[in-house]
Amino acid sequence: MTFTFVTLFANLIEGYFQDSILKRAIDKNLIHINYLNPREFSGSKHSKVDDTAVGGGAGMVMYPQPLYDALKNLKLSNENIHIVFLTPVAKPFRQNDAKRLAKKSHIAFVSGRYEGIDERVVEEFADEVFSIGDYILTGGELASLVMCDAISRNIEGVLGNSDSLSVESFETPLLEAPSFSKPQNYEQRSVPSEYLKGNHSRIRSLKLALSECKTKFFRPEQLLKHRTRKSYEK
Ligand code: ADE
Repeated sequence: MTFTFVTLFANLIEGYFQDSILKRAIDKNLIHINYLNPREFSGSKHSKVDDTAVGGGAGMVMYPQPLYDALKNLKLSNENIHIVFLTPVAKPFRQNDAKRLAKKSHIAFVSGRYEGIDERVVEEFADEVFSIGDYILTGGELASLVMCDAISRNIEGVLGNSDSLSVESFETPLLEAPSFSKPQNYEQRSVPSEYLKGNHSRIRSLKLALSECKTKFFRPEQLLKHRTRKSYEK
């Protein structure tokens, strides 16, 4: 899988791939990372990429020409590229999107800066538009990294142990049960005793009960979804 980050600030992104799981994925040729800076396509004298908003409003907007030409160029040399724009004005990015997008061969993430991107560029090039949550970031770079990370770990071979994908939160409506490690007692808190007894069916039912508790507390709407799904299965 190739990821191309279309951004004015590649250096905000690069560091993330210099360690841990995604670095290993690059070393194993499972993912490839490219950067494309729209500023390099600017036809203006000072490589300008922003301009005032037409119709008023605060702040500057990324005017169409540099980004339009950058993306036209990218599409010309990459037939199957899937172009994703990051903006808070979009559908929410979810785990099922991460799994679906992990099957693509090449994804470009287009990050806006300033007050956003001229809408005509989005209309022309976006295959999908995502928000990573109901808050406003200073630009799309963090959002594109979040998406890239969540997608990459669903690519075969990126995680050491593919078992760890199937029991995670959001693979079902329930949040994952709490995890514990050694020692058994730490600072006067103990691992749940059932976890230690080795009866796997009892551990499974305790984990399910704890999952339901966590979900009820943090995400009650997800618990409702789980119960509705279970009643359909009956
Ligand atoms: N750019 C700024 N805020 C964002 C968000 N919440 N999601 C995606 N892109 C963004």
